[in-house]
Amino acid sequence: MDMFCIEGGHAIRGSVRVEGSKNAALPILAATLAVDGKVSLSEIPQLQDVATMNALLQSMGATLEQHSDGTLVVDTTEVHTTLAPYELVRQMRASVCVLGPLLTRFGKARVSLPGGCNIGHRPIDIHLRGLAALGADIRIESGYVVAEASKLQGAEIDLNGLNGPTVTGTCNVMVAATRAKGRTVIHNAAREPEVVDLGRFLSAAGARIEGLGTSTIEIIGVEQLQSVNHCVIPDRIEAATLAIAAAITGGEVLIDNAPKAHMEAVLEILQRIGVTVEILETGLRVAAGTNYQPVEFIAEPYPGIPTDTQAQLMALLTLVPGESRITDDVFPERFMHAAELIRMGADIQVRGNSAIVRGVSCLSAAPVMASDLRASAALVLAALAANGVTVIRRVYHLNRGYRAFEDKLNRLGAKVLRVDDSPTGGSVPSSHINWNSASHADKPEDTIGDEWENCIATEF
Ligand code: EPZ
Repeated sequence: MDMFCIEGGHAIRGSVRVEGSKNAALPILAATLAVDGKVSLSEIPQLQDVATMNALLQSMGATLEQHSDGTLVVDTTEVHTTLAPYELVRQMRASVCVLGPLLTRFGKARVSLPGGCNIGHRPIDIHLRGLAALGADIRIESGYVVAEASKLQGAEIDLNGLNGPTVTGTCNVMVAATRAKGRTVIHNAAREPEVVDLGRFLSAAGARIEGLGTSTIEIIGVEQLQSVNHCVIPDRIEAATLAIAAAITGGEVLIDNAPKAHMEAVLEILQRIGVTVEILETGLRVAAGTNYQPVEFIAEPYPGIPTDTQAQLMALLTLVPGESRITDDVFPERFMHAAELIRMGADIQVRGNSAIVRGVSCLSAAPVMASDLRASAALVLAALAANGVTVIRRVYHLNRGYRAFEDKLNRLGAKVLRVDDSPTGGSVPSSHINWNSASHADKPEDTIGDEWENCIATEF
């Protein structure tokens, strides 16, 4: 396993491009199972979760070709099984997105229940309710969802749940409905841009879908879905994470391909805090402010502030004078990052699905542990601003949703080193540290080495 060693205090400055959206790519890759023929996808991000989804498709008999120009060609013609095994689904819960595509094309599916998750209770009851409404016979056997349907029938379906609409549940039911017989209307559908991108992919393949981006999506079933080329939208969550990196380090970043139209709520809260946000024709310029103000916000379904940026915003607010309040209405328990930020000196009190954050004058480096994807991003952001060298363990969580994040950050002036965390590889002699940055030119190597050794000593 890897860990990050991050020397704080370096402003993030420069221009950067974000990857294709993980949360658009995953349901689209799953939906290739509903298409008869080849699908050519561009801007698919090279992430651990995508690799897991690709492995799942290949385990079913699909062939995947990665072309030198970055295009991924998926051919599901030879798919010979409708089993999604626990070994793969437990690695990535979005694997459940194969349920709808398998049912609508093959009339059956055997998909492992996804299991637990560090950000909270994440059932798939609404997915199953929606598929059953389309006429699927669904039962749970030995930890697997076993679904069968000779021919799905269009229906009126309400996908709302206690915590609002379901993103992947909407994806599952929408794909299933594209080849069902007749008309389907999904009420309380998720409005996320990633759902819209999936809908556009399906429409390009011949599906008949109206209402994408609204709470009511209407689908008229068709016999088949044809080969299609599709370019995945940029990742709004990675863009927001990089914007907050500039804000928390006193820097300025130009995000060339930021999907700014998908980021209105998170950009608005950053401006309320006091971050400078400039919408450019091509992309986004974000610059740190000089007089940050505390805020109160609720993470909620799109077009609200994304729950996937809640942890990163918390990291920023730990250094904003005054008292801020964060509430997460989507994942009420999504605060595991708070305890680790407290280890770095933050003042946070979690109460139910809210957290009170009182700004402190500085954060201090400490050994911390990543617990989930966005929590790991929050710890990276905090470490970028902290005094000293922070060690973040279990950064495999970060690999799931951020490609080569340390390279991006180092090109923007950060000092992030990925280190083998295994017992034998867990220390880095100071001679191996190459903080090749002008900001350290005036510091003798051994000064940094001492910090490094101390940090490693602390850790181990
Ligand atoms: C998607 O997860 C995203 N993942 C998540 O991003 C994101 O946090 C989430 O949507 C909310 O925006 C992907 O798209 C791959 P939900 P999903 O179903 O679809 C409850 C990241 O960091 N619910 O919209 O699994 C659920 O417990 C990841 O990139 C039910 O009760 O989330 C939650 O409280 C993390 N029953 C709420 O609905 C169900 O059947 C929203 O969940 C389904 C969901």
